[in-house]
Formats: sequence, structure tokens, C-alpha cells
Amino acid sequence: MTDPTRRNIRSFVLRKGRLTSAQQFALDELWPYYGIKKGQTFLKFDDYFDRQADVIVEIGFGNGESTWQMAQHEDDKNFIGVEVHEPGVGQLLMALEEHNIENVRIACEDAVPFIEQRIAPASLAGVRIYFADPWPKKRHHKRRIIQPGFVALLATRIAAGGILHLATDWQPYADHMLEVMQTCPDFENLSADGDYCERPEWRPSTKYEERGKRLGHEVRDLLYRRK
Ligand SMILES: C[S@@+](CC[C@H](N)C(=O)[O-])C[C@H]1O[C@@H](n2cnc3c(N)ncnc32)[C@H](O)[C@@H]1O
Repeated sequence: MTDPTRRNIRSFVLRKGRLTSAQQFALDELWPYYGIKKGQTFLKFDDYFDRQADVIVEIGFGNGESTWQMAQHEDDKNFIGVEVHEPGVGQLLMALEEHNIENVRIACEDAVPFIEQRIAPASLAGVRIYFADPWPKKRHHKRRIIQPGFVALLATRIAAGGILHLATDWQPYADHMLEVMQTCPDFENLSADGDYCERPEWRPSTKYEERGKRLGHEVRDLLYRRK
């Protein structure tokens, strides 16, 4: 494992994927409504949502399929999706409009400084990170977003009783997650066996999950409660 204090993780490579005209249109027209502008101060959730409700952050939502489906299913909660890949942001913007979803806002930036600088301590009901890039090569392990320093940061942002939910189809990353989570005494594993949980019925299947299953990978869900 890498330096446990490490927070300056570079967990992504910015692919300059071409935007479709529909994604570009969504970014131009819908971003002003759903987007969270970059800034340095803690967000006031009331500035973005017209009601008070538990706030869940989803990190690395990809094309946002899971985000809008969870928001539709759990309509008593507010969601903030964070993703660096612009075409994915455009895709989610389109879905939010198409499905009339009001309880999602989007940040298009690196989730690590976003959580540190924009999310106030103990203000979240949960953080969800599904199928984060596994960075399989050993020399790239330091790029995995699940690291002791980042998990310790999440522990400061999730309120007592809140849930950190991780899922992966890459067994070595699942092992790494278990190991990292053990470094943070603020989280309690919800698995009776101290490892994996059944996939909760409310977690939608994602694009990367389907890809993993096609490759014959087993999917692991890890659920932790903030003490
Ligand atoms: C393997 S994909 C999984 C996408 C989606 N969750 C799914 O299951 O289909 C990982 C995603 O995380 C995003 N990502 C990685 N590191 C990130 C970071 N630090 N901040 C925001 N997004 C990040 C990548 O751009 C990518 O879209």
C-alpha cells in the first residue's frame, strides 16, 4: 500500500473523447442548471437543491446510468455526481432532462480535491464509488482512488451513520479495498463475515459492471457504516 496520508491521488487519465453534438448541446444548455461551478469554499446544499434531504455523492459515475436511476428510485435523497470525463457529464445531463430528475447536481472535476474543498465535514449521508478504475499494474496501484488518505478524508465528510458503498469486478482491487478500509477505524464493515455484502437491490447495474460480467469477473460490493 502507498503512503497512508496520500491525498493527491491522480486516479484518472483525461481522455479527450469527442463530444457528440447532443452531449455538447446538453453541456451548453443544461449545465447552467444542473452543474456545480468550481470553487474553493464548502458548498451550501441549499443553493443547489430546493429542499433539504440527505445528500449522497457518487464519484466517477461514467455515463451516469446508475446516477439517474438511483436518483429516480431514491427520490427522498439529493445526489451529487462527480466525474471528470465530459462526454459522460453530457450524457447524464441529457438523462436528467429526459427523465425529469430534479434531485441530482453534477460536478465535472477531480473528486479528491472536490471532496476536500467543497464538502463540509459530516455533511453527507453517503458516498458511492462503483467500478472505480482498478489500475491493475503494480506500478499504477498508487493511482487507485481507494487509498488510506482518501478514505480517511471520506470519514470526515460522511456523517455518523452514513454509508460508504464500493463495488468492483476486479478481485485484486476488492482485496486492496478491504485492506485499505481496515486502516480506517471510523468505518464499520456491514458484512457479517467482515468482507463482502450482497449487492443491495437499489444499486443499479452499471456499464462497467456489465463489461466485467461478460469477462467472467465476480462482482464485489463493500458497504461500510460511518461510526
Ligand atoms: C471504470 S469507470 C466506471 C464508471 C461507472 N461508475 C460505471 O460503473 O460504469 C471509472 C470512472 O471514474 C472516473 N474517475 C476516476 N477518477 C476520478 C476522480 N478522481 N474524480 C472524478 N471522476 C473520476 C473516470 O473518468 C471514469 O469515468
